[in-house]
Amino acid sequence: MKNTVVTLQKQKDEHDKITMVTAYDYTTAKIMDESGVNTILVGDSLGMVMLGYEDTLSVTMEDMIHHTAAVTRGAKNAFVVADMPFMSYQTSVYDAVVNAGHLMKEGRANAVKLEGGVEFAPHIKAIAQASIPVVAHLGLTPQSVNAFGGFKVQGKDIEAAQKLIEDAKAVEEAGACMVVLECVPAKLAKKITEMLKVPTIGIGAGADCDGQVLVYQDLLAMYGDFRPKFVKVFANVGDAMREGMAAYIKETKEGTFPSAEHCFKIDDSVIEKLY
Ligand code: KIV
Ligand code: NA
Repeated sequence: MKNTVVTLQKQKDEHDKITMVTAYDYTTAKIMDESGVNTILVGDSLGMVMLGYEDTLSVTMEDMIHHTAAVTRGAKNAFVVADMPFMSYQTSVYDAVVNAGHLMKEGRANAVKLEGGVEFAPHIKAIAQASIPVVAHLGLTPQSVNAFGGFKVQGKDIEAAQKLIEDAKAVEEAGACMVVLECVPAKLAKKITEMLKVPTIGIGAGADCDGQVLVYQDLLAMYGDFRPKFVKVFANVGDAMREGMAAYIKETKEGTFPSAEHCFKIDDSVIEKLY
């Protein structure tokens, strides 16, 4: 069954946790979709885990459209959310709607996601008015890394915690269909989850959010550069790849691969007639 804004809202209302994972290409999206995950996020984290940048700032609209289109070709039932990259919506409400439109038209996404609260309520409202479901991302918003002075937990003191609550209320009021909370203290995320009608999806925000999201290279131990505190490794796919590669290289060097079963046959009489 296809996951939609309606089924995701129903999951919150019925206390059925929403699962979200990232994907950036057709093959991975197909595996994730077949696993039964509710939603796939084409995150701008692709700048780091797929393209090797040190943060998300260099990701372009072209990158996002290219990867989103690949994911949506592979995802049958998952609700696909595409991140709006840095400077594709901060510049104006007009740019936000136009670029959200590209992710829907060329990328075939089911929704877009942008980072920001009260200050971006007009952008969220305009995108939602264009009938594009929009997810808001609050807390540690990686596109603001230079303004924050690094990646750190957000909303710890009273002012910051109260601002986060105001942001959450403002984006819901503006028409956001879901809210991602990244690196927010668990008790604050619980309070926000209870205050909002729309689902919250946590990453480093505790178990009381309506759902969880992780970057797949983190949960499958494929990205070794850095492992945040909130990541749990569910399978060691990185090691499985390294072992598979070692076996392939060894058998190729030894000449035991390919064996007869992997080779194409020709009649000896043909070979004998060749000169
Ligand atoms: O880009 C991304 O992968 C994200 C998630 C971490 C929420 O925005
Ligand atoms: Na992102």
